[in-house]
Amino acid sequence: MRIAMIGTGYVGLVSGACLSEFGHDVICVDKDSTKIAALKSGKIPIFEPGLEDVIATNVKAGRLSFTDELSSAVKQADAVFIAVGTPSRRGDGHADLSYVFAAAEEIAENLDGYTVIVTKSTVPVGTSRKVEEIVRKARPHAQFDVASNPEFLREGSAIEDFRRPDRVVVGTESDGARAVMKEVYRPLYLNETPLLFTSRETSELIKYAANAFLATKITFINEMADICEKVNADVQDVARGMGLDGRIGGKFLHAGPGFGGSCFPKDTLALLKTSQQVHAPTRIVDAVVQVNEARKAHMAEKIAAALGDMNDKCIAVLGLTFKPNTDDMRDAPSLSIIPALRKKGAIVRAYDPEGMQEARKLLDVQFSKSAYEALGGADAVVILTEWNEFRALDLKRVKALMKSPVMIDLRNIYGPAQMAEAGFRYVSIGRAPTEPRR
Ligand SMILES: NC(=O)c1ccc[n+]([C@@H]2O[C@H](COP(=O)([O-])OP(=O)(O)OC[C@H]3O[C@@H](n4cnc5c(N)ncnc54)[C@H](O)[C@@H]3O)[C@@H](O)[C@H]2O)c1
Repeated sequence: MRIAMIGTGYVGLVSGACLSEFGHDVICVDKDSTKIAALKSGKIPIFEPGLEDVIATNVKAGRLSFTDELSSAVKQADAVFIAVGTPSRRGDGHADLSYVFAAAEEIAENLDGYTVIVTKSTVPVGTSRKVEEIVRKARPHAQFDVASNPEFLREGSAIEDFRRPDRVVVGTESDGARAVMKEVYRPLYLNETPLLFTSRETSELIKYAANAFLATKITFINEMADICEKVNADVQDVARGMGLDGRIGGKFLHAGPGFGGSCFPKDTLALLKTSQQVHAPTRIVDAVVQVNEARKAHMAEKIAAALGDMNDKCIAVLGLTFKPNTDDMRDAPSLSIIPALRKKGAIVRAYDPEGMQEARKLLDVQFSKSAYEALGGADAVVILTEWNEFRALDLKRVKALMKSPVMIDLRNIYGPAQMAEAGFRYVSIGRAPTEPRR
């Protein structure tokens, strides 16, 4: 099967590479010619564990290639995936569909023979139908179907998620498109991955409902953490006690500084907009959006409360990306927390294993080459992202490097007892703060 993947970002590049690994002939298209030039010369424009190997193997096998020319890629394809960005529209929070519709126009011009156009981008209900209208208007006699196939991969474990998804959702009412999509995902189908066929509207809504539910779970445990802090309970144990209940499950019950990233913030907002448009209010999602925004804003206050006057205090921030194992800085909590600390007069020295190239464009701080360099002479360390290398810090060395041993752990990767023993004043999320034992 010949596949064109339009948009070579976190989703398009991973999906394209993994589909070529399934044995398909895949051309990844992006209008960003710098990105394509990098990919052609073997450089991977994003950090995603394992991606470089999958790309190298499949390029070598002749199944995966890159181009900035959409026309030839679409002409040859049996299936054309749209995997372009759908960010929040400035000002109103609706999903900005301009990239999707622009791609649809370009695809329409180049269709040649029966083609299935697949919306893989996260798009509001009705978008696949709108894509069909755009293509039909431009090419009234072309042979094509438009299917919806939302993507559920997580940055940081995207390759594994694509190879072994919990399910694949396909929205289509056409037998032709159903046959093509079964062929696209045949290796997964053989592995007994559930392949769920629905209407396009249902498929589009499944993606938003899933993300909103996960965002709700995070927000719920964050609020439980606030209660824990007032009543001297431990949110880690509350989460474990809840999560062991099979009806609840332990995932997405990690209290923290509020969710960020390229999906949850914009997708909860877009779902809210859809619900308002169709007069079916979702008060839960509304509350999740508001609580999360307030939480991110509150984190700088929490840090200030622990440190007192922030003027000229030097704070080492470990972790800038919205989660570990990615270089993605979109809507990361660091982008609201660090400017608030700077506003309070603090000097911020930051380190992130993969996110600093992007962070340099977004944050006015001193960047360090390592965690230990950031810690030198610091009045406090704030852990913002739970990278593995921060879980295994040499605490003796950290204490020796810092001006005063204070840790504010917004990801709960250490524990009160351990930090008291190591001689730190320790503040975390939803757990009793502790003073050093020695
Ligand atoms: N990032 C994730 O973890 C994730 C997970 C699931 C779903 N999604 C959804 O997948 C979609 C893509 O997200 P992403 O994070 O990969 O975005 P991204 O911003 O990383 O990549 C989008 C790419 O599309 C390219 N592009 C835009 N218009 C184009 C056009 N007309 N022709 C060719 N290329 C074009 C851009 O240059 C960019 O490289 C979004 O709708 C997102 O919500 C993302």
